[in-house]
Amino acid sequence: MKTLISSALPNSIPFSDASFTGTAKRRRQTFTTTSPLTVIRQPRKPTPTQTTASSNIQRQNPSLHEKIFKPLHDLISNFANNNLPPHLDPNHILSGNFSPADELPPTACEVEKGPLPPCLDGAYIQNGPNPQFTPLPPYYYTDGDGMLHSIKISGGGATFCSRYVKTFKYKTERDLGYPVLPNPVAFFISNLRASMLLAAARVMSFQFNPFADGIGTANTSVALIGGRLLALVETDLPYEIRITPDGDITTVGRHHFVGRSGEGGGERFLTMTAHPKTDPDTGETFAFRYFVTPPFLTFFRLDSDGTKHADVGIFSMKAASLVHDFAITKNFTVFPDPQIVIDPLRIMRGKPIMGADFEKTPRLAVIPRYAVDEREMYWMEAPGLNIVHTVNAWEEDGGAKIVVVASNVLCVDHALDDLDQINLEKIVIDAAAKKIVGRYRVSGRNLDFGAINSLYSGKKNRYVYAAVVEGMPKMVGLVKLDLSLSEDCTVASRMYEPGCYGSEPVFVAREGAEEEDDGYLVAYVSNEKTEESHFVVMDAKSPTLETVAAVKLPRRVPQGFHSIFVKQSELKM
Ligand SMILES: [Fe+2]
Repeated sequence: MKTLISSALPNSIPFSDASFTGTAKRRRQTFTTTSPLTVIRQPRKPTPTQTTASSNIQRQNPSLHEKIFKPLHDLISNFANNNLPPHLDPNHILSGNFSPADELPPTACEVEKGPLPPCLDGAYIQNGPNPQFTPLPPYYYTDGDGMLHSIKISGGGATFCSRYVKTFKYKTERDLGYPVLPNPVAFFISNLRASMLLAAARVMSFQFNPFADGIGTANTSVALIGGRLLALVETDLPYEIRITPDGDITTVGRHHFVGRSGEGGGERFLTMTAHPKTDPDTGETFAFRYFVTPPFLTFFRLDSDGTKHADVGIFSMKAASLVHDFAITKNFTVFPDPQIVIDPLRIMRGKPIMGADFEKTPRLAVIPRYAVDEREMYWMEAPGLNIVHTVNAWEEDGGAKIVVVASNVLCVDHALDDLDQINLEKIVIDAAAKKIVGRYRVSGRNLDFGAINSLYSGKKNRYVYAAVVEGMPKMVGLVKLDLSLSEDCTVASRMYEPGCYGSEPVFVAREGAEEEDDGYLVAYVSNEKTEESHFVVMDAKSPTLETVAAVKLPRRVPQGFHSIFVKQSELKM
C-alpha cells in the first residue's frame, strides 16, 4: 500500500446523510426549469378518514392551534423562498430523480432477464427521503419523510411496493394536510428563519411534544435487530416495519428497546444512530446516539434478541459533533469525532447550530465494545479525517493493530454547495501506542456507500464494493476493491449508462458459497430521463460486474440513501 496519506490532507466535512450536498450546483445546472419529474404535492385538506386517524395533535385543540399557526404558515410559505441558497430551497432540491413519488401497493414485476438466483429469496429494501407535502423552507434534501421501496422475491417472481414509514411526523401532517414539524437538518444548518420560530412556537404551545413522540422521518436506513426490521434516522428512535407475505410494507410503530430488569437497560432515550452494527457471530448489535447536551455521545449494545444493555456515557467528548457512523471489531468499537460541531449557542453568533469548526482537529476513539464505562477509552488526533461512513473494521496481530476502512469527505469549506470529493481510506491504529500509524487511499475515485459480505462484519475482509459517487448522493457506478493490493485496489468496475443512477449496493452471498466474493451485488438503477427503474443483479466475481438478472420495476424509484437485503427466513410476518 504505497499511497500513504500525509497529515496535511485538506479539511473535511461530514453531514450525516446530509453530507451529500455537492449536487447543489450540478442539479441546478441540470434542472433549471420545471422537470417533468417534479411532482411535489401541495397541501391538501384532510379527508374525514384521515382526520379520525390517531395523532396527538388531533386529540388536543387543533382548531385553536391552527387558527393561530396556519395563517403564519401560509404567510411564511409565500416569502420563505426569498434569498434561499440552492441547498436549502425545496424547489431546487426536489427535482429530477430527487422528486418524491406516491405510495405504490404491491405490484407484480416483469423479470426481463433471469432467472433470479435462488439466494435472493427475500426482500431488497431502499430507504430514502420523500416529502409528503411541499416542505416549508428551509428544507435540506435529507429532511423528507422516509419512504421504503421494497422488491420481494419469491419462487423466481418479484413484487415491488413503496410505502411511507408511518411516523408521528407523517401521521400528524397527513391529518392536518400540510407540513407542521420542522425540517431537522435544515433547522440545524440554517441561520435563524421564521419557519424555525414557528416550529418552536408549536412546541412551546404544546401542539406537539418532540421529546415524547419524536420528530424523526425514519428516512435513512433499514436494519434487522433482534428479529425486528427497523427504519432508522439518527434524529429519532427507529420505527419497526414489516414486509407482509404479499409484499406490502406496514409500520408497526416507534420502537423503544427494553432492557433486562436490574441491568439499567431500557431507559428512555430519544435518538439512535442509523448505522448500528451487528456481529454476525454473536447476533449482538452495537449502537450509539449523539446529543446536544452531555453526554454528547452515548454508546450501548443490544443482545441478539434486542434486549438493551445500560448506556455508556462518553463524557470525555466535550462538545457535540456529527457522528454519523462508527465501527466494531471483535473486541473494540471505533468512533470518529469530526470537525462538524453542533452547538445551539452558535446561533447567538449568527451561525447555524451545526457547522464546521476549523480550529478543531478531528479525532478517532477506541473503546472496548463490552465496556461499562469509558475508563479504557482512548482518543487519537486524526487531522483531515472526517469520516462519513465506515465500511468495516478488524483486529490484526492479536489485537495489536486495529484497521478501519471508511469514507472521508474532503473540502469542508464547500460542503454545502460543491462537495464532490470523498475518498475511501484504510486507517491503521497501533493499539499499544494508541496512535494512528497509517492512512491509505484505496482508490483514486470518489467512493462511498461501501458494502461487504456481511459475514465478515468486524472481521478482516478482502473485498469491498462501493458506489462511484458524482455529485453525491448520485451513484453513477460500482467498483470492487481488493484490499490485499498495495496500489489502487480496484479489481472490477462498472459505470451505469449516462443519466442512470443506482441505489446503495448490497452483497448477497450465493447459497453454499465458500469464497468471500462468491455472490451477487443487487441495486436499483434508475434512468432519470426515461423515468424507468430496474432491480439489477450483478455477478460479484465478474471483472465488469456483469448483469445476470434484471427486473423491470412498475415505476421510478427516487434517489434514496441506504438499503438492505433481508432473507425470507428473517422476515417476521
Ligand atoms: Fe449514512
